[in-house]
Amino acid sequence: MRIEVSPDETGVANCAADLIAAAVAAKSRASLGLPTGVTPIRTYAELNRRVLRTEIDLREATGYAIDEFVGAATAAPGTNAAFYAEHLRLPLRALDVPDANAADPDAEIRALARRIAECGGFDLCMLGIGANGHIAFNEPGSTRESQARVVELTPPSRAAHAGSFGGIDLVPRRGMTLGVADLLASRAIVVLATGAGKAAIVRTAIEDAESSDVPASWLQSHANVTWLIDADAARRLNSR
Ligand code: PGA
Repeated sequence: MRIEVSPDETGVANCAADLIAAAVAAKSRASLGLPTGVTPIRTYAELNRRVLRTEIDLREATGYAIDEFVGAATAAPGTNAAFYAEHLRLPLRALDVPDANAADPDAEIRALARRIAECGGFDLCMLGIGANGHIAFNEPGSTRESQARVVELTPPSRAAHAGSFGGIDLVPRRGMTLGVADLLASRAIVVLATGAGKAAIVRTAIEDAESSDVPASWLQSHANVTWLIDADAARRLNSR
C-alpha cells in the first residue's frame, strides 16, 4: 500500500484529483466509485476547477455511488443523492446512484453491484473512512467477503449525518452499501482521510492486523491502495 501524506486538506484534494485524472487519461470510459462525506468535497471542487480549465475530460467516465441511506425520500436533504446534486457537479457520462426510497433496498443495492460488475468493475474507487473504521456503509463487523446489502447504521454514523438530515431522529436507521468484497474488486482504491479526528482510526486501519472490527483494515490485502492523508490524520502513524 502507498501512503502519501500532504500538509493539509488542499494537498489531499490535489493528489486525489491527480489520481482520478490519471485514471481517465488511461481509460476515458473509466468506472469510478465516488464517496460522499465531508472529506471528498474538496476533491470534487478541485476536479470541477480542472474541468472548467479543460485540464480533465470526464465526459466518457461513469461515476457510481458506493452506498445510500434506506427509507428516505429520493434526494431528500441528507441523502447521498442530495450530496451528489450539491457537491458533484461534474460532467460525467452518467452517475449511478441507488434509490434511497426503493421498495426493495436489498435488490436495489444488489442491482447496483451487478451493473458495476457488468461494466467491468471499478477502475478506481475512492473511499472515505469513518471514525469507527467503516468504508462505504460497511460498519464494524463487516467481513472481507461481505457483499452488497442493507445494514443497520451505528449510532456514531447516524450522528455524523444529523446535521444534513436536520436532526438525529431524521437520520435513517439503515443504509444500503456495496460490500467489502465489492470494494476490494476495484482495480485501484484511493482512501482519503483528513483531520486529527481520523488520526487514531487511520493508524489502526493501516498498522494493526486486519479485522472485521475495523472494516478499513481489509484494504491492507488489496494490491493497489493509496492512502491520501493530511498531516493531522497521519500524526499517529508509527511509520512516520
Ligand atoms: P467524512 O465521512 O468524510 O464525512 O468524515 C467519511 C465516511 O464516513 O466515509
